[in-house]
Amino acid sequence: MMTMRQNFIIFSFLAPLIILGLCYIWSPSIWALAVVLPIIVLGYIDVIQKRHSVRRLYPFLGRFRYMFEAVRAEIQQYFVESDTSGTPIAREFRSLVYQRAKGARDTRPFGTIFDVNRPGYEWVNHSLAPKHATNLHPRIKFGGDDCLQPYMASPLNISAMSYGALSKNAIMALNKGAKIGGFSHNTGEGSLSPYHLKHGGDIVWQIGTGYFGCRDSDGNFNGDLFEENSRRDVVKMIEIKLSQGAKPGHGGILPAAKLTEEIAAIRHVPMGHDVVSPPSHSAFSSPVELLEFVKVLRDLSGGKPVGFKLCIGRRDEFLGICKAMLETKILPDFITVDGGEGGTGAAPTEMTNSVGSPLRDALIFVNNALIGVGVRDKIHCLKCFQLFIFCGQWH
Ligand SMILES: Cc1cc2nc3c(=O)[nH]c(=O)nc-3n(C[C@H](O)[C@H](O)[C@H](O)COP(=O)(O)O)c2cc1C
Repeated sequence: MMTMRQNFIIFSFLAPLIILGLCYIWSPSIWALAVVLPIIVLGYIDVIQKRHSVRRLYPFLGRFRYMFEAVRAEIQQYFVESDTSGTPIAREFRSLVYQRAKGARDTRPFGTIFDVNRPGYEWVNHSLAPKHATNLHPRIKFGGDDCLQPYMASPLNISAMSYGALSKNAIMALNKGAKIGGFSHNTGEGSLSPYHLKHGGDIVWQIGTGYFGCRDSDGNFNGDLFEENSRRDVVKMIEIKLSQGAKPGHGGILPAAKLTEEIAAIRHVPMGHDVVSPPSHSAFSSPVELLEFVKVLRDLSGGKPVGFKLCIGRRDEFLGICKAMLETKILPDFITVDGGEGGTGAAPTEMTNSVGSPLRDALIFVNNALIGVGVRDKIHCLKCFQLFIFCGQWH
């Protein structure tokens, strides 16, 4: 049997000959060459090239595979995906976010499109005696006895997302939202940028393993720089990032080619080098040292609430931290729990898909562990998850 490539070569000779023959009978058929000749040229380009085997084996026709692949996401989104099936965010919720953001009509006739009998369906139970909400702006006090500047936080806040992972416009929009809504905006590990400060929304400053914004020239923690930034009025709390659900234990790298003068100045890193976030911290290496670092940051910041964020991996390690809390009597003011399913700006696919405990299991474990060592009532647990209206944290 002949291969497609052989068929094409035969076609490339026969088709022009047939068209020229037809011209003797009906001269306008010469225009068919305008279609056939480009096909032949493209087909021979495919035969000669060595990069794509599909194009080499199926000259010209193979190109359709790449064309369809290029619009696969759009076909999936507009024609295949149902209103409830898209991930990570279904169209049902995406549309709702757009409608509300634009002040458009967001109500709907008829009933739910959810299958309420499917396993795993979740709902909220109402009361037969509903009340008018009187406290429209509930606040939760963050900061125990050791905090001189406790923070009255909203139950819903914006999770860590760095300037660099997000554009300056996105950071400014989030911060303006935080200002208007009276909630807090976590900087992410990329440090405090002028865009976080422009609209005056409350800030939770996140300190990652790169200590961006508070590091010396070797990448180690610098207390003076930390003190300077953390004492700004707008900085309400400090979060030490131990790990993140999408890439626990991975660290990160911003290649030198992508490093701008502005980001270098914000992060306190030199131009011309890759910016590396190591997998672990250099300021501490044991649970006791972690808690001592919590205390150092609390003192340097003038007594602001300090907590840490982690994705649960080895459970004995978290229990080790609980044990160290009892030993040192130093408690974090909050613990932020991220699930292995959590989002990120960029992470290796294997880590995103398969490393780190999912949020539900992790939160139950953290809650139980803190109850077990008798400190749950002194530590707030935050969880990172999508709330569609807010990508936020829930107390
Ligand atoms: C674009 C982007 C950037 C992020 N940057 C950080 C970061 O700098 N530090 C961090 O702790 N988490 C970071 N996260 C993770 C979020 O804070 C949060 O844990 C995660 O988005 C929760 O997962 P979900 O949104 O899929 O529910 C980032 C997430 C996204 C989507």
